[in-house]
Amino acid sequence: MYPILSAEKLTDNIFSFKVKAERVASSCLPGQFVIVRSHSDAERIPLTICDYSREDGTITLVFQIIGAGTLRLAKLTTGDSMHDVVGPLGCASDLCSLPIDELKAKNIVFVAGGVGTAPVFPQVKWLKENSIDCDVIIGAKTKDLIILEEDMKCYAKNVYITTDDGSKGRKGLVTKTLEDLVNNEGKKYDHCVAIGPMIMMKFACLTTKALSIPTVVSLNPIMVDGTGMCGACRVSVGGKIKFACVDGPEFDGHLVDFDEAMKRQNIYKTEEGRAYLKEKEGDTHHGGCGFCGGEE
Ligand code: NAD
Ligand code: FES
Repeated sequence: MYPILSAEKLTDNIFSFKVKAERVASSCLPGQFVIVRSHSDAERIPLTICDYSREDGTITLVFQIIGAGTLRLAKLTTGDSMHDVVGPLGCASDLCSLPIDELKAKNIVFVAGGVGTAPVFPQVKWLKENSIDCDVIIGAKTKDLIILEEDMKCYAKNVYITTDDGSKGRKGLVTKTLEDLVNNEGKKYDHCVAIGPMIMMKFACLTTKALSIPTVVSLNPIMVDGTGMCGACRVSVGGKIKFACVDGPEFDGHLVDFDEAMKRQNIYKTEEGRAYLKEKEGDTHHGGCGFCGGEE
């Protein structure tokens, strides 16, 4: 069991849990995720690690209620325990493997959309701990949905807030602020990390392609086992089949087929859709998801 040391409500439907998970905390790096189950009979939910403390043996998980599983998870509170926390899973952020001198020479901008701000945070914090500056654009539909603004300001050089309705910061989508910063405000970036809803990452990549800024995205397709077994998280990157849980979750955003990923995500939601994908994808959908019968 994994005790929840503190449970905080960040917005109406976004929660932050600090969880005692010593083994995960001892080795995780920015960009990695865990798969949790709130109860022994609960569904598995992949969650990016938003923060960690090796000293305290804790990790911080931020999640949004999007269905029955996350609603059940959100009912837990300080003092309760989560049944499973499996991880760290996936590859660490590319940034963690680059030489520090190389990183210091880069002008890095993060584009964080909605709940995608949570996986951006550990990368920004890691950079600051290595004396590397970066800018962060945080976008949300409205001011009440902005998360981690103050935390981000502790570590980023500049934080730009955008809201779709103009209730706080700059009005408009994150892509508009990125364009404005580069085209009208003299900013130069040579590395972008965009994390948020799939549609945001698609348009962020179209924007950075036009601005010639290499861009990394962190994909969160439907995941089941998180170990490359079930095929649920299959994506096409540069025309090659990849599995976000083991090959990612980060990929070169300019090579990701977002339209296919979004379409596949929708198809995967129904039993009929999963059976269709199993037939279509053959060996690359090799069962184990527990839904399609491919494991039989
Ligand atoms: P949201 O829909 O409120 O969007 C956040 C911001 O993204 C918007 O304010 C806007 O600035 C930008 N955006 C949205 N659509 C855009 C477009 N077409 N062009 C340019 N910019 C656009 O975000 P939300 O409700 O917090 O998002 C929830 C989604 O994020 C869920 O589907 C969840 O799966 C996903 N998510 C992704 C990750 C990840 O690792 N990639 C992590 C957490 C959540
Ligand atoms: Fe990636 Fe199953 S979640 S293959």
